[in-house]
Amino acid sequence: MEESCLLWLLVVTSLLSGCTHQASLKISPHRSQLFVGEFVSLRCEEDDSSDGLTVTRNTSKDTRSPCGAGWGTKDGSDCNISFIFPSDSGVYWCESTGGAASSSINITVTGGAVILQSPVLPVMEGDDVTLTCTTETSNLSADFYKDGSFIRTEPTGHMTIHHVSRSDEGLYKCNIISDGESPPSWITVTEKPASPSSPSAPSPPPVPVWSMVLAILSSLFSLVPLVLLVLEVRRLTNRKPKGIYLPVSMEMAPPTQAEQGLADEYDDVMAAVTTEHHL
Ligand SMILES: *[C@@H]1O[C@H](CO)[C@@H](O)[C@H](O)[C@H]1NC(C)=O
Ligand SMILES: *[C@@H]1O[C@H](CO)[C@@H](O)[C@H](O)[C@H]1NC(C)=O
Ligand SMILES: *[C@@H]1O[C@H](CO)[C@@H](O)[C@H](O)[C@H]1NC(C)=O
Repeated sequence: MEESCLLWLLVVTSLLSGCTHQASLKISPHRSQLFVGEFVSLRCEEDDSSDGLTVTRNTSKDTRSPCGAGWGTKDGSDCNISFIFPSDSGVYWCESTGGAASSSINITVTGGAVILQSPVLPVMEGDDVTLTCTTETSNLSADFYKDGSFIRTEPTGHMTIHHVSRSDEGLYKCNIISDGESPPSWITVTEKPASPSSPSAPSPPPVPVWSMVLAILSSLFSLVPLVLLVLEVRRLTNRKPKGIYLPVSMEMAPPTQAEQGLADEYDDVMAAVTTEHHL
């Protein structure tokens, strides 16, 4: 009964919070594994760019280090790394002057010859995901692994996972016999939202007042069997000779009302139920 109201509040709250825009970090080239020496461009994007955003990182050497402070070339919310090193591997995100942060990207820089190209951002349940195993120059036949276990060999170097589910989440890597192994990359799979709020679908209209009313009415309806049960119990206990069983009505209403008719009692209960739901 109360749960359905809470559920509606949750739905409304999540719809409202879906309207606030979050900054996002864009990386070019669009992958999280990079070869030593590559030029990398990072950019913070926000619809409402009134607040200054800075690309910030955690690496094994530094924590919460902003672009320009010993690494990268900063220009507003742009940040370029002209020659990337394995020591630049780490977590990168956008941070506003207010301290708010965007979702983060894991960047791994390898001194090896092979990289795994995997989605930079978490993937949605049900999506198809293609992993590519490549050297700087070409795609060759590659072996793919998840959490250390061999999955399969792909002659083209591309492996597609159809309709990913939460169980596909894990640490992936690949191996090209002639060139070596890639570093591992973590793939995050997020639950598909209950409401159709994916960017391809038009955003749902705000929940109208009538559906809130409907939710409250339906939760009232779910009380009907309970009300009938209470009435039946009271009817039966009123019939019984007074003795070991205290009449239920004695505990719920003053004794003067104990003898009132069924109709009155029904009204009382309905009144109680109604006030209970004026949140
Ligand atoms: C960066 O490092 C700090 C300190 O260890 C930690 O509190 C913070 O959560 C890290 N940020 C990310 C995005 O991993
Ligand atoms: C970063 O690189 C891009 C693309 O080459 C360029 O347009 C931009 O001006 C550069 N920004 C900085 C801060 O160097
Ligand atoms: C980054 O990597 C760590 C460890 O591999 C993982 O737990 C985390 O979820 C990753 N974060 C993202 C944004 O992929």
